[in-house]
Amino acid sequence: MTDAAEPLAPWGDLVADAIARVAAASDATELRRLDVELLGRGSALVAARAALASLSAPERREAGRALNQARADVEEALAVRRRELEAQERAARLEAERMDLTEVRPTRRRGHLHLVTQARDRLEDVFVGMGYQVAEGPEAETDWYNFEALNFPAGHPARNMYDTLYLELGPPESTLLRTHTSPVQIRVMEATTPPIYAVMPGRCYRQDTADASHLPNFHQIEGLVVDRRISFADLAGTLDAFTEAYFGTGIRSRLRPSYFPFTEPSAEFDITCVFCRGDGCRSCGRTGWLELGGCGMVHPNVFRAVGYDPDVWTGFAFGFGIDRMIAQRHGIDDLRELVTNDVRFLRQF
Ligand code: DAH
Repeated sequence: MTDAAEPLAPWGDLVADAIARVAAASDATELRRLDVELLGRGSALVAARAALASLSAPERREAGRALNQARADVEEALAVRRRELEAQERAARLEAERMDLTEVRPTRRRGHLHLVTQARDRLEDVFVGMGYQVAEGPEAETDWYNFEALNFPAGHPARNMYDTLYLELGPPESTLLRTHTSPVQIRVMEATTPPIYAVMPGRCYRQDTADASHLPNFHQIEGLVVDRRISFADLAGTLDAFTEAYFGTGIRSRLRPSYFPFTEPSAEFDITCVFCRGDGCRSCGRTGWLELGGCGMVHPNVFRAVGYDPDVWTGFAFGFGIDRMIAQRHGIDDLRELVTNDVRFLRQF
């Protein structure tokens, strides 16, 4: 075979060999190297093209066509392999960058609402079931809502029952952290016209050192009914219906005379001891009853403070501590457990 004949050489083997090497290239770098070797200036194909000049015109046409085809075949093989390698690289990169979103495994314990939130939700459910609405008010209050409108005039001795935390805002002792949820009664009455059947849960604050039976930040739920011809019997019946619905059959309520400036008459309400069911035990001091909260008939001065005519409207109110009720219900002997958030404690409920 002469040099001049080389362009006419059967390119089949060379092309087949080139295509096989291209297909076996393992990465982009190797592919670039093959591109230069097979199609670049020093390649057999380029050398063959240069040699075409020495051929006769018909030979040159035929050899040129064969060379073009060979070049096109190698280029095609390179392009195919390039696309394959790119796809592989992209797949590898995606795999490497894939985020593990499986942290919450079905075998792990799921979280749940805090015990106080669960209790508050259930209390709301029971009252909503009795036709009540749920209302809320601010935790930072004015003296007027927390005391004055609730018939505690300035200097009233009952103010001492509330270890009030005052805020440095406005005139001295004019703004405070609410000491009970009763101010929300005033806000609800101001915002609506009777009849009113509402419960008002929320956080309250008192200047207390936390101990087994006190929290400086605790929860209450307030109830308010305002309608025509509401009697003390309605109050007693409502509390009894609530007690049974919330605590279960066999748990009843009773009222004892007491004093609150915003109700007259006022009472404390007790429920059957949930531990001994009335027989008398250590938890209830052998009385068979547990103290739950306060209640009474809305005082005429409270109606006057919100512009309701006390000759037309009658009503009752009640309020009790949610945290203490939870403690009684679950036999928790230290209220601080509710705020220290030890999951070993919390996950029991
Ligand atoms: N606000 C009272 C307290 O925190 C509880 C209370 C007593 C609320 C009697 C009432 C009520 O609505 O009628 O000690």
